[in-house]
Amino acid sequence: MKKKITGRSPIGVFDSGIGGLTVARSLFEILPNENIIYLGDTARLPYGTKSKETVIKYSLEITKFLLHKNVKMVVVACNTASSVALPYLRKITKLPVIGVIKPGSKAAVAGTNNYKIGVIGTLGTIQSYAYKTQIHQIERNTEVFSKACSLFVQLAEDGWTENKIAEMTAKEYLTEFKNMNIDTLILGCTHYPILKSTISKVMGKKIKLIDSGEEAAKEVRRILIQNHMLNSQKKNGVHKFYVTDFQKKFKEISERFLGQPIHDVKKVKL
Ligand code: DGL
Repeated sequence: MKKKITGRSPIGVFDSGIGGLTVARSLFEILPNENIIYLGDTARLPYGTKSKETVIKYSLEITKFLLHKNVKMVVVACNTASSVALPYLRKITKLPVIGVIKPGSKAAVAGTNNYKIGVIGTLGTIQSYAYKTQIHQIERNTEVFSKACSLFVQLAEDGWTENKIAEMTAKEYLTEFKNMNIDTLILGCTHYPILKSTISKVMGKKIKLIDSGEEAAKEVRRILIQNHMLNSQKKNGVHKFYVTDFQKKFKEISERFLGQPIHDVKKVKL
């Protein structure tokens, strides 16, 4: 029997893998009393190079899994999935489904002074034009420059975040944004906040970096308050993690992304 959904129900979060733990980390910080269920689709990652149809299919399967766990809201931590799947996910539930594109875009538009915004993400995210479309819906007169930075994902996973290779790669990808005179850059991928200091070094301190995951976490709090669905418990929330495969170096990578040791991880079949 389905349990009644209340403020005590968990928030469901999903990603193509462990990158979304950067979003979970922001949620833990902003909403320490919330119970959270995280699913990383580690058996099928990356999503960033897959077709739109496949990403939608996987996202639907995961959302159904989370709904079975009686979550009170679904947070799509993955930028690639957020770019293409949200309307489809919203068709199968009346609960709030929050992606990272809108919160990241809103923060970028609020932060820019010259209305020139850069967006970096996976190939799937960039080719979907989701950020560009969203930014233009908020502020028509904005110039948006986008670029897929695929290698950043591997660098973040290998922990090569502040060495020469990371800096050279960032220079290669990002120099064109400097020439375009952007003043704000959206980190439109779960992995990129891990490379924040190198990206900032290459772009210069004056360029505002927007972490879409962090902005999504703030949006989650706003919506829970608005819907009177905040968890009122005084103790810290319970965090449960599910993966579809125990990929190699799971513990090491996940702890780097989450910023703390990870417990209670189960492998599931969707
Ligand atoms: N989580 C993905 C994203 O934010 C990056 C990794 C992948 O391609 O699956 O777009």
